[in-house]
Amino acid sequence: MKIFLDTANKDEIKQAYEWGIIDGITTNPSHVAKEGQEFFSLVEDICELVPDGEISVEVTATDFEGILKEGRVIAGLHKNIIVKVPLIKSGIQAIKVLSSEGIKINTTLCFSAVQGLLAAKVGSTYISPFVGRLDSTGTDGMDLVRQLRTIYDNYDFDTQILAAALRHPKHVLEAALAGAEVATMGFSIIEQLYYHPQTDIGLESFLNDWKKLDTKIISG
Ligand code: E4P
Repeated sequence: MKIFLDTANKDEIKQAYEWGIIDGITTNPSHVAKEGQEFFSLVEDICELVPDGEISVEVTATDFEGILKEGRVIAGLHKNIIVKVPLIKSGIQAIKVLSSEGIKINTTLCFSAVQGLLAAKVGSTYISPFVGRLDSTGTDGMDLVRQLRTIYDNYDFDTQILAAALRHPKHVLEAALAGAEVATMGFSIIEQLYYHPQTDIGLESFLNDWKKLDTKIISG
């Protein structure tokens, strides 16, 4: 399973990338707006910080021609860019054209499995179901991931499921069990993945026992 970091913050990106577990970055207009850096230079910096990862960058046009133009410009910024396109009628129409040009697409703002079916039909590389936002409206957001998995398997679609808007480690676990190819999450959730109280308790007791020996693994 690939892990993407959902941010445009360079400090977070630098740190998480050093940990060696990040396969890419997902940005969106809200993340970019928070950073206060000019858009194109920020995208360039992020691509340099994660040289071997996929970087999702979102269009802001909502009409067919506008999405096509912005999508082509964004795709041209770096070889690792995935163009993020919202799941609206003009977006789906544009994804069909952009995909046929070899541009990789992350279809975003997916809230239903039939929306996800449309994204797959037009050749989107990724579909982003927004799990946490569905949870907050009183439905089980992870059901959407499971439904997409079933549909894509039924018809052998290549579109990969990118579980998004994840709120806690249990969401990451459930997305992995449901067969999502990718989970994208904020920095604090990635940090939480490392933690279990029994790990800390166990380590403390091992190291206390070790201190009773007068031995060093590396001498000097
Ligand atoms: C995904 O690509 C989105 O950027 C992100 O997951 C949105 O999540 P939010 O609900 O935390 O804003």
